[in-house]
Amino acid sequence: MKNGPSFPLEAIEKASIDELRALQLRRLQATLHHAYANSPAYRAKFDAAGVHPDDCRQLSDLAKFPFTTKHDLREHYPFGMFAVPRAQVVRIHASSGTTGKPTVVGYTARDIDTWATVVARSIRASGARPGDIVHVSYGYGLFTGGLGAHYGAEKLGLTVVPFGGGQTERQIQLIRDFQPDIIMVTPSYMLAICEQVESLGLDPKELSLRIGIFGAEPWTNEMRHAIEQRMAIDAVDIYGLSEVIGPGVANECVETKDGPTIWEDHFYPEIIDPETGVVLPDGQRGELVFTSLTKEAMPVIRYRTRDLTRLLPGSARTMRRMEKITGRSDDMMIVRGVNVFPTQIEELILKRAELAPHYQCVLTREGALDTLTVLVETRSGITPESREARASAELLQHEIKVYVGSSVEIELKAEGGIERSVGKARRVVDKRQR
Ligand code: DLL
Repeated sequence: MKNGPSFPLEAIEKASIDELRALQLRRLQATLHHAYANSPAYRAKFDAAGVHPDDCRQLSDLAKFPFTTKHDLREHYPFGMFAVPRAQVVRIHASSGTTGKPTVVGYTARDIDTWATVVARSIRASGARPGDIVHVSYGYGLFTGGLGAHYGAEKLGLTVVPFGGGQTERQIQLIRDFQPDIIMVTPSYMLAICEQVESLGLDPKELSLRIGIFGAEPWTNEMRHAIEQRMAIDAVDIYGLSEVIGPGVANECVETKDGPTIWEDHFYPEIIDPETGVVLPDGQRGELVFTSLTKEAMPVIRYRTRDLTRLLPGSARTMRRMEKITGRSDDMMIVRGVNVFPTQIEELILKRAELAPHYQCVLTREGALDTLTVLVETRSGITPESREARASAELLQHEIKVYVGSSVEIELKAEGGIERSVGKARRVVDKRQR
């Protein structure tokens, strides 16, 4: 384990709440004016809602402004949400989305620098030290994961290995040869890499890795503990979304691991009731909404993330934290009237020693009745037919009934029976006819 000096914090990370709020208000006012003056889409939205940037005199006035949704971005596909001339946009990213047109985002040179700054801050908060090597297994390309991580690590002055997703065996070989200290990857792909390391007769604990910076998909604290033990690393949560900037909107501090600290000097968070749109006080659960405070090419005003969480007071920093995401409203399954999130199932699977953390939730419909079947793998060395596996499945079914409130079917799969992702895992497969 490296024990050298750590990187110093930026001044704003140590600022008082009052200083932070004053900076946020100045930046918010400037952002609203910028969006109104330079983006016809925002001007039309503000006009329709009867609000003007001058109406924002304090941070809470933001609630007067209309929300922005994925629908707005699609409607103005591809470049209609930009607030600078296209020629000033130096980078485009896009998220594929499962249906319809991709959502397109753009960055000026300064936006790219802002993004690198918040990712560098995130990697530092994760425990990076000068001289570290960072292995990036997030996908490069239109997805923001790879390039976002890459520019951040470079900005911090670390050595980057830009591997990207896939080719698991080669990843492992380079990890063994280059001896990286940090890996940045989705937690589900980390598990697939781990598994392959073990299948080569190696112990993941013996790898040089000290820190894993995991995100791009929901993962539970139970999953954190499982990965930390299996690999002997610190597993830290990084959050972000392309519409807001990409990875690095928020990141956990390694000393507390108590939910990502939101880099509030660049991204102003609100929690709303997803039904009514009313802003909820800190501490209450609801949908996370972000307003960018420094973005030039594509400012976002009150962007509805569909991610469900709550805001918590700062701990390792003065800036507020968000609770680890329990799920996206899109991932919520309603099974016979009961709301179920894949993360609730994950928590319970990870308690069972006979089961592996590879699972998928399959929804089917017979007549008017919906059925949720949880496909889950048994651990290596345990067959799905064995008595211990079947007993474990019964217990899991019982616990889901008791703790989640839903009657589900459990289908055990042998090792490798659930598809492995090299990026975001697909946790819900909906086979119901529409
Ligand atoms: O996933 C950006 C990213 C890349 C974040 C690498 C972290 C690491 P999108 O493809 O636009 O961007 O997907 C954003 O992914 O709204 C959440 O639903 C989910 N998500 C991202 N990070 C987390 C996390 C990237 N740490 C969507 N925990 C978001 C839970 C996450 N969900």
